[in-house]
Amino acid sequence: MNANFMPRALRAAECRGSRLGRDSIILRRVGYCPSCRRVTPAANVARIQESPLAQDAASPPDARRHAPAARRNREPISRVLAEVLPAAGLVVEVAAGTGEHALHFAAAFPHLSWLPTDPDPDALASIAAWAAEAGLPNLLPPRLLDARRHPWPVADAVGNADAVATAPRVQAVVCINMIHIAPWEACVGLMAGAAEVLVPGGPLFLYGPFMRDGRHTAPSNEAFDASLRATDPRFGVRDLGDVAAEAAAWGLDLERHVAMPANNLSVVFRNSAERIPGRRVRGAHAPPHVSS
Ligand SMILES: C[S@@+](CC[C@H](N)C(=O)[O-])C[C@H]1O[C@@H](n2cnc3c(N)ncnc32)[C@H](O)[C@@H]1O
Repeated sequence: MNANFMPRALRAAECRGSRLGRDSIILRRVGYCPSCRRVTPAANVARIQESPLAQDAASPPDARRHAPAARRNREPISRVLAEVLPAAGLVVEVAAGTGEHALHFAAAFPHLSWLPTDPDPDALASIAAWAAEAGLPNLLPPRLLDARRHPWPVADAVGNADAVATAPRVQAVVCINMIHIAPWEACVGLMAGAAEVLVPGGPLFLYGPFMRDGRHTAPSNEAFDASLRATDPRFGVRDLGDVAAEAAAWGLDLERHVAMPANNLSVVFRNSAERIPGRRVRGAHAPPHVSS
């Protein structure tokens, strides 16, 4: 595992974990501490193996990062994406992490332009390093994008040159394993941003663990949720109903969800044509713009 890939809050917790020793919730969750290099014997193996935070101890000594979960879930996700993504156009991937998904999906869908984004400079460096090695013509250079900060910097991406003055035209937004490892504001920002940039009918694809009707769907998800909340009380496995309600407030209609390996879901929303750009269609909250 490489500590650089972890969100800063988790990195800080990881350091606290190394001081606290083997009972640290972080050690139990990820199973390995990059500071003390101790492997916990109490690891929740199933969830750790699926955890997008877990990485190979043998990451190469360059900017490329590995996430074993991305390697495992990319093919099942690809099969769902094949049914969801349009025939052509621009796909914005939010929270692209290591870039391994971007590489895989850009290769799998050569008719699409794939724009990987992330707010973490280390993640951007990893994505760029993987992209340089692969040399895929439809994989665009990664961009710094925090879902909470609007407008998203995609207006001048390929196919959008004539849309800068109006609204950017993005055919699909993909976000894998982000909304539970970030404050709720990131989910709100994701919905607002996707609604802002997507063409009418364009899909927002989410992947990750979800609660259903206020309940966890598996003990491993419940343990994962507890470890996330112990790391940062603002994190946690989200309820699909809450996410769908927030999406609907931005004019994104829940189309379907698909059961995935390791108790995860693929969730597909579609941008309705009725939305007023920059405005919630339901509810009184202002857009969650973060200006700094
Ligand atoms: C667990 S990783 C998942 C990475 C990748 N999607 C995967 O499945 O391998 C979570 C990612 O969310 C990103 N992230 C956290 N907060 C975010 C935000 N507000 N907007 C966009 N991305 C965010 C982190 O930088 C990190 O790369």
